[in-house]
Amino acid sequence: MERRFAGRTAIVTGAAQGIGRAIAGELAAEGATVVVADLNETRAEAVAKELGGSSFAAAVDVADEGAVAELHRHVMERTGRIDILVNNAAIQPFTPWDDVDFAEWRRIMRVDLDGVYLMCRKSSDEMRRSGYGRIINIASNTFLAGTPNMAPYVAAKGGVVGFTRALSTELGPYGITVNAVSPGLTASEGVLGGPHEDSFEFTKSLQSLKRRAVPADIAPAVVFLASEEAGWVTGSLLNVDGGHVRH
Ligand SMILES: NC(=O)c1ccc[n+]([C@@H]2O[C@H](COP(=O)([O-])OP(=O)(O)OC[C@H]3O[C@@H](n4cnc5c(N)ncnc54)[C@H](O)[C@@H]3O)[C@@H](O)[C@H]2O)c1
Repeated sequence: MERRFAGRTAIVTGAAQGIGRAIAGELAAEGATVVVADLNETRAEAVAKELGGSSFAAAVDVADEGAVAELHRHVMERTGRIDILVNNAAIQPFTPWDDVDFAEWRRIMRVDLDGVYLMCRKSSDEMRRSGYGRIINIASNTFLAGTPNMAPYVAAKGGVVGFTRALSTELGPYGITVNAVSPGLTASEGVLGGPHEDSFEFTKSLQSLKRRAVPADIAPAVVFLASEEAGWVTGSLLNVDGGHVRH
């Protein structure tokens, strides 16, 4: 296989399972040193082992400023560079909007929006120093669809799209591209077995492509935006949902 990412370091948050794990797998298969950054250290270790090569696991809570700083210190010490950042970690609670109290709203914002900011803030410092970077933020097509029972999540993902656009303007002069990918409903571990699972049949009826998405359907779009070939694409939202919202 072509090794497009040989010599590159990629941090993928939430890579211990689901879509993040699929992204980590594709980047590692093409030569990247992948930092499997996740709250769940045990599962992150197992994924890093599976990836092999120079990839490694790192425990992090993306919503914790100190932990994000420590992660970056550790990655720089181990690899001396950060070329690619994939902000994939998120929580996806499914609750009628008027049952969401302010504490729950803030919890979702902390992980799904503040976490993206904190990771971008730190990684972009290193990318600016080297004059190269690829940042890919995982949004969601629920932002485009206005999906019910996920209002704080939809708002946070809208924030991620807006932040992606603003950051592409701020970081472009330093050779850094910033893009977002919005998956549709996808059979990840986080979704399977939860309340979202009941939505697959209805979602399939709305999609142009009549099957369930799996994490491997999402990863190639992210890998493209992480590649050198995508160097003229920035500030974009790439919707990857089998033709559900047709954005
Ligand atoms: N699966 C879907 O249907 C779907 C649809 C649209 C968008 N997305 C987005 O895709 C991304 C991945 O989704 P998924 O379904 O694969 O998720 P998942 O729930 O299967 O996995 C999420 C991973 O993130 C980690 N994580 C959670 N909070 C964290 C934190 N504070 N710090 C570090 N790691 C943390 C978890 O430990 C887990 O390993 C998310 O951004 C999600 O919003 C998913």
